[in-house]
Amino acid sequence: MAADCIARIARLRERVSAARREDLSVGCVPTMGALHRAHLELIDRARAECGLVVVTIFVNPLQFDREDDLRSYPRTLERDVELCDRHGADVVFAPSVDEMYPREPVATVKIRGLADGLCGASRPGHFSGVATVVLKLLNAVQPDVAYFGEKDYQQLVIIRALVEDSCLPVRIRAVETVREADGLALSSRNALLTDEQRAAAPALARELRNAARAVRAGESDAAKILGRARRALEAQPLLRLDYFDIVDPSTLRPVPEITGPVRIAAAAFLGTTRLIDNLPASPKVA
Ligand code: PAJ
Repeated sequence: MAADCIARIARLRERVSAARREDLSVGCVPTMGALHRAHLELIDRARAECGLVVVTIFVNPLQFDREDDLRSYPRTLERDVELCDRHGADVVFAPSVDEMYPREPVATVKIRGLADGLCGASRPGHFSGVATVVLKLLNAVQPDVAYFGEKDYQQLVIIRALVEDSCLPVRIRAVETVREADGLALSSRNALLTDEQRAAAPALARELRNAARAVRAGESDAAKILGRARRALEAQPLLRLDYFDIVDPSTLRPVPEITGPVRIAAAAFLGTTRLIDNLPASPKVA
C-alpha cells in the first residue's frame, strides 16, 4: 500500500491510534527531507523493527541560526514521499510551519551543558530548536521507537537526555553513520557543494580516521592529535575549519588525556556549506 502523506497532527493521531488498536508497534524517523541513502537506512531499520513506520519531514525554522541556510535548504517533498513509499514507510508526516508553530511558541526546550561545545558553540540556539521540534514530533506521533543517526552525534546525545528528562516513553535507536565510498558522510547539504568543494570534502573524514587511529595506537595526549588534524585541515585551501575536538562520549566535554572511549568530532565550512562528522575511538587494551 502507498505511504499516506499527512499534513495535520489530528489526522496523524487518528492514523497512529488505528494502528495501535491493531496492536502494531510504532516507529518514527524524524527528518528534514531531501532524503538520501542514510535516511533510507533509518527507514529500513524502522521497517524491520516496527509495525507502523512514520517518517516525518519538516524543515524546522527554529533550529536554523542563519536565514540563508534555511532558505537554501534543499526541499524535494514529492521525491521524498516516493522514496519513503519504496522503502515501506506507512505514513509520511509533512506538516506546514503553521501546523507545527501556529504562533510563536511560548514553551521551548533549553539545553544545558550538552549544547555548550562542538556545534552548539558555533550555532547558538540550534539545539534548543532541535529539541523543541523533536519533543513536539515525538508527542505528535507518540512512537515506541525513534531512529536517529550517529552522524549528528551531539544531537543524538541531546535527544537521549531530552527523552529521559521529559519522561517520554520512547526508545531511541542510533544508526551508524552512512558514508560515500571516499568516506564523506552523507548529508542533504552535500548537494549544495560545487565539484571542487565536493573533491575537498572527504578531508574531514580522513583526518577523523587519522585521529581515531592515533587514539587506537595509544597516543593519549589529545592536544598532539588535535594539532596534527587541525594543521592538516587548515592547509586545505577550500575548507575553513570550525572545530576539531576530542570529547567524552556522554558529557561531550573535551578530554585532554585519553584513557578510555572518546568521540572525535569536527565541523568545517566549504564555501557557505557547513559539514559535520565524527567517529568513536578507544585506546587498544594491551
Ligand atoms: P536530517 O538532517 O534530515 O537528518 C534526519 C536523521 O538522519 C537524523 O537522525 C540524522 O542524524 C540522520 N542522518 C543524516 N545523515 C546521516 C548519515 N550520513 N548517516 C547516518 N544518519 C544520518 O537531523 C535532522 O534532520 C533534524 O535535526 C531533526 C532531528 C529531524 C529535527 O529537525
